[in-house]
Amino acid sequence: MKFVIFVILFYCFNNNIGATTKIDAQELRCLVCKISLQELDKAVNKIDPTKTVDIGGYRLDSDGNYVHKSVSQAKSEIHLSELIEDICTKMDDYVRATWKTNGTLTLLKLITDDGKMNSDMAEVDLIQDDDLNKSLKYYCEGIMEELEDNIIKHFQDDSENIHTKVCVEESKICRSGKRVSEEL
Ligand SMILES: *[C@@H]1O[C@H](CO)[C@@H](O)[C@H](O)[C@H]1NC(C)=O
Ligand SMILES: *[C@@H]1O[C@H](CO)[C@@H](O)[C@H](O)[C@H]1NC(C)=O
Repeated sequence: MKFVIFVILFYCFNNNIGATTKIDAQELRCLVCKISLQELDKAVNKIDPTKTVDIGGYRLDSDGNYVHKSVSQAKSEIHLSELIEDICTKMDDYVRATWKTNGTLTLLKLITDDGKMNSDMAEVDLIQDDDLNKSLKYYCEGIMEELEDNIIKHFQDDSENIHTKVCVEESKICRSGKRVSEEL
């Protein structure tokens, strides 16, 4: 289904694709970092907040009874780690493109979360994906591997704007303040 839509889109927008467009790798990593963490945030928010998992061991409750130690599933390291492992498959839903208005690189989700075709499609020029090793998923997996511990910590701490904290402030994957540039 997705593939069929993609093929149709490809033909519709084929004339917009610049086969020789070079993408700034750091720029792309920055976008992948932010988007994958936003996707992760959505996945974590979907977890039923009442669900808990046993983390082994016991603690005493207020009545002095032994109860199993547990944490909410959304904060369980094992569960977060599983979500992180899966999140990069979400990158398959995105394509690289540049905004027609200003030429800025963007990653566009072809089909939005409510199942509709992204209306921004008409506002961008698609960029051809010509190197498998540089696929969005590949970048995503590298980022997740490198920053997993940090990301888990933020979700456990209920940090706000995790994508900015991780991608801009801590890892410097995104160069903050630097104007977006595209090599042509
Ligand atoms: C480029 O245009 C898009 C959509 O029109 C906008 O969202 C984005 O912020 C712009 N980027 C810059 C650097 O001006
Ligand atoms: C991707 O990278 C691997 C290991 O670095 C290499 O063996 C392989 O040939 C590359 N594939 C492409 C399509 O560049």
